[in-house]
Amino acid sequence: MFLFILANLIHAAASFDPSIVDSVNKNRRATWKARDYRGTRFSPAKVVKSLDKTILPEDPLDFMAPLSAPSSYDIREAYPDYVLPIYDQDDCGGCWAFATSGSMSIRRGIAGCWSGPLSMQDLISCDITNSACRGGNPARAQLWAKNKGMTTYSCLPFVSASGRVPTCPTKCRNGSEIERFKWDKTLTLRVDQVQESLFNEGPLYARFNIYEDFLSYSSGVYQHLEGDNLGSHAVILLGWGEENGVKYWLLQNSWSEDWGEQGYFKIKMGTNEAGIEGGFYGGTVVC
Ligand SMILES: *[C@@H]1O[C@H](CO)[C@@H](O)[C@H](O)[C@H]1NC(C)=O
Repeated sequence: MFLFILANLIHAAASFDPSIVDSVNKNRRATWKARDYRGTRFSPAKVVKSLDKTILPEDPLDFMAPLSAPSSYDIREAYPDYVLPIYDQDDCGGCWAFATSGSMSIRRGIAGCWSGPLSMQDLISCDITNSACRGGNPARAQLWAKNKGMTTYSCLPFVSASGRVPTCPTKCRNGSEIERFKWDKTLTLRVDQVQESLFNEGPLYARFNIYEDFLSYSSGVYQHLEGDNLGSHAVILLGWGEENGVKYWLLQNSWSEDWGEQGYFKIKMGTNEAGIEGGFYGGTVVC
């Protein structure tokens, strides 16, 4: 058992290659900057270990933004009162729960029934249709959120940073009764439906493939340049825009504020970059 874990760690550590940082930063065609995260709170080795092994298709989808969509949109500017903290999933492969709770938190705010940030821990500990810190399926997570729902972060804060998962609690941390919030209907959207939904109702659950170079993303509009596909990851879609002539999607990650643009990142729009345009998930809110 010990040897197995050790072998896994060595494999994971080996997938962060510092030479990628140099070569991205020297690439004059690159639309983003890389950095070496060694010595920060962000650990590429932990992230790699907890990625979903599913690899998403990357065939271009001939996507064009709807003509009615504004050229840029950022939920953080449109609804500053509902900006969520940047979390750190750390040693827990619970990205699916961070993306689901994050999307519902802000959608409840926009719908007029803000309940504060909702609890990814509730999903991690209680959603038996998914695999806690070892991954989850976006559609099943939305279904759980519709049927059972989730409580607030203040009731059940994130406690699985080590990867250890407590059993589903029957009371809030302080002993009060658990109150849960649900999707009215679940959503599965194609990329050409996403901007309208994001603009009118709020963020969505997005996923994409993680390549080795993404682990050293620091700023700018990410496009895959180097390294292997390591698996897939879920994040929260918050908006879109254009930087230096390159259109992008804006997303919130759960790899701590030390990573990326203070926890956020941009990825190229319109070419199904790293599979990001393959499907978006979420739900509707009735207060
Ligand atoms: C206990 O936690 C709940 C959920 O966060 C909160 O609504 C309630 O006010 C807290 N109760 C006390 C006595 O602190």
